[in-house]
Amino acid sequence: MIRTVHTKPYDDQKPGTSGLRKKVPVFQQEHYAENFIQSIFNSLEGFAGKTLVIGGDGRFYNREVIAKAIAIAAANGFGKVMVGQGGILSTPAVSNVIRKYKAFGGIILSASHNPGGPHEDFGIKYNIENGGPAPEKITDLIFAHTKKIAEFRIAEIGKLDIDTIGETEVAGMTVQVIDPVTDYAELMETLFDFDAIRALFKGGFRMHFDAMHAVTGPYAVEILEKRLGAPKGTARNFRPLEDFGGHHPDPNLVHAKHLYDDVMSPSGPDFGAASDGDGDRNMIIGKGMFVTPSDSLAIIAANATLAPGYAKGLAGIARSMPTSAAADRVAEKLGIGVYETPTGWKFFGNLLDAGKATVCGEESFGTGSNHVREKDGVWAVLFWLNILAARKESVMAIVEKHWADFGRNYYSRHDYEEVESARADALVAELRAKLASLPGTSVRGMTIAKADDFAYHDPVDGSVSKNQGIRILFEGGSRVVLRLSGTGTSGATLRVYFERYEADPARQHVETQTALADLIGAADDIAGIRKHTGRDKPTVIT
Ligand code: G1P
Ligand code: ZN
Repeated sequence: MIRTVHTKPYDDQKPGTSGLRKKVPVFQQEHYAENFIQSIFNSLEGFAGKTLVIGGDGRFYNREVIAKAIAIAAANGFGKVMVGQGGILSTPAVSNVIRKYKAFGGIILSASHNPGGPHEDFGIKYNIENGGPAPEKITDLIFAHTKKIAEFRIAEIGKLDIDTIGETEVAGMTVQVIDPVTDYAELMETLFDFDAIRALFKGGFRMHFDAMHAVTGPYAVEILEKRLGAPKGTARNFRPLEDFGGHHPDPNLVHAKHLYDDVMSPSGPDFGAASDGDGDRNMIIGKGMFVTPSDSLAIIAANATLAPGYAKGLAGIARSMPTSAAADRVAEKLGIGVYETPTGWKFFGNLLDAGKATVCGEESFGTGSNHVREKDGVWAVLFWLNILAARKESVMAIVEKHWADFGRNYYSRHDYEEVESARADALVAELRAKLASLPGTSVRGMTIAKADDFAYHDPVDGSVSKNQGIRILFEGGSRVVLRLSGTGTSGATLRVYFERYEADPARQHVETQTALADLIGAADDIAGIRKHTGRDKPTVIT
């Protein structure tokens, strides 16, 4: 039976490109989730009888919202819902299922790398038929609908079993419970040399993959241990938990420090990797060598033809503006296009759809390619395994040879979290006002060549995105970038990115913060970071 339920709008349901993100108690308000899901459907046309994919990262409240989404989809006339078993599907896996089965779209329940639990974060995101996040014109429409919604339609579906693979009918709609891993694993088998990776593990190569009690656990067990023959125990923290074991499922040197320590210990594994809450981020660590996400993108691009799925070469490389220029040097050598986009995965979508870029990446532990329309953590890890298997060298040797060939881009990001918004805004305003006067001036012996607020001209649709981050470029290729985070939930987060190029192999082994010390000092001289934030050091350094 289908019911029409009267409801009142909420005024705080503005979705970003990562969807609507709020604390769980906010989502638990009466009709909060229902209103948002109905508003998504109110913003779409032509889905009658079509397929909707639904899955999440397993965090607290996942199952409740999945049940609501299925009931509302049935009442709104979808023909079929494909849902991951137990409500589990990683973000890149949803993207793949949408594309593979030509679904109309998908709903992802996740708050990415943010903590989960009854008082932590939850999120709902809508992806379109190309498998990527809904563009702004759709998210704007969804927001408009949330502000005027008066009723939603929902089917009485009783208690639905989403733990058993198979098909059932609910209120005239087919619900297909799918294995979350199979389609994704099959896609990976077409891209990477599984035989070579199997031989690598057979030869005694050891890795730890830390799923951080989040969504990639089942993917790591099936792909690494079952299909690639890595020993049992390779996948760590592989059981998805509603609260991620009480941790931040964020793969970086702060939240996955134990993994770093394991790999660095003499008795530890040769290789370490981790992914985040919903499986789209990745971290790569070799013995004696943490690979920065910027270097990882460059090295994947330089070695791409070793992987069968990329054997014909790359069309181009795209990176977000704050990501280091290491990938640019690879593109230059390969004679392919390089695209510098604003922060955020959505800017890669057009380049991938138009066939201009094949691989893309962000300094924030995001790497991916045209195989789906989301960044993809497990994909990046498999790419590294493929490279290691083909080159039969250590991560350290591969990285150092890369630096010797292309030069090293020393790189670090300093985050100042929960800064009072007014103070952060004042810093940016003051800096913007003096940008024009900076070129030609000298700070700590370094001359500023150019200073601007990054604007992106999309080469595919011609759109222009302004004010995407302040760049201070020094002679010789060093730079400082400052921008305010668009994803923080309390106060403002100031991100400061430092990059210095070093061509001489004899000077490529300095500790990163030391190598960047002059730039770090110069950034404070120019932008007054300490003065404005009232902090004498960043909250997080990556
Ligand atoms: C951050 C990262 C950005 C990434 C986004 C979503 O955004 O910096 O690269 O695309 O999360 O994962 P920010 O908080 O900096 O706006
Ligand atoms: Zn994520």
